[in-house]
Amino acid sequence: MRTVQRLRWHPALVILHWSTALLVVGQYGLSRFMRDESRDLLSRFALYQWHKSIGLTVAGLVLLRLVLRLLLPAPAPMDHAEWQRLAARAVHIGLYGCLIALPVSGLLMAAAAPIQIPTVYFGWFGVPHPIGPDRRVYELMLRLHELVFDLLSLLVLLHLAAIVTHQFVWRDGLLRRMWFARG
Ligand code: HEM
Ligand code: HEM
Repeated sequence: MRTVQRLRWHPALVILHWSTALLVVGQYGLSRFMRDESRDLLSRFALYQWHKSIGLTVAGLVLLRLVLRLLLPAPAPMDHAEWQRLAARAVHIGLYGCLIALPVSGLLMAAAAPIQIPTVYFGWFGVPHPIGPDRRVYELMLRLHELVFDLLSLLVLLHLAAIVTHQFVWRDGLLRRMWFARG
């Protein structure tokens, strides 16, 4: 029996890749505005709610992506050296890890905050907080949230550097794998 090897990621995984990337960049932008103390409290409150809702959406998209990643066939591996394969794998696992650790630490931070503000998903329904107020946990989660975001930024830079090298130095068409087939 002949097996047809895919050359690109499945369209569902492509959509999930680009929507997650867009939302993560948006989250950074939002976080700059929401922590700006010169803004009035009401608009900061709304920005925090947007940040929490989008962050929880990212968590959902990443979980869905990991499930589909296991169910759908991956594209055929490219002809790369072993160290490149290992480096890419490490960065990808790191990216997934950060994309899960950020929403988890964010939700725990919001839940443990000394001043309790409910998390309302896009104004639609209240998200239960898994723990109650606890200053020590709050401070730990805040530090973790910031640290994981710094790590994510570093990994995204490495990811981009690798893509640019593939695209413009090795010219091996890697970028096309994360896009839709034409025709
Ligand atoms: C992909 C998901 C997420 C990303 C990329 C992200 C990113 C960030 C960043 C960059 C900051 C600013 C940190 C700083 O200024 O040093 C921040 C702050 C914050 N995030 Fe997130 N976040 C995510 C998900 C969440 C979730 C799901 C929640 C809660 C349900 C959350 C709650 C918060 C809160 C409350 C702060 C403000 C901390 C403070 O100012 O005291 N985040 N986030
Ligand atoms: C926040 C930004 C981003 C995140 C979190 C992210 C995350 C990821 C992850 C986790 C994978 C691994 C897929 C898997 O093996 O399951 C991946 C693959 C990929 N990403 Fe990104 N990405 C981001 C931005 C970008 C950008 C801006 C580009 C292009 C300029 C890009 C191009 C690619 C390509 C081409 C692949 C497929 C590599 C292959 O087929 O081996 N990504 N990305």
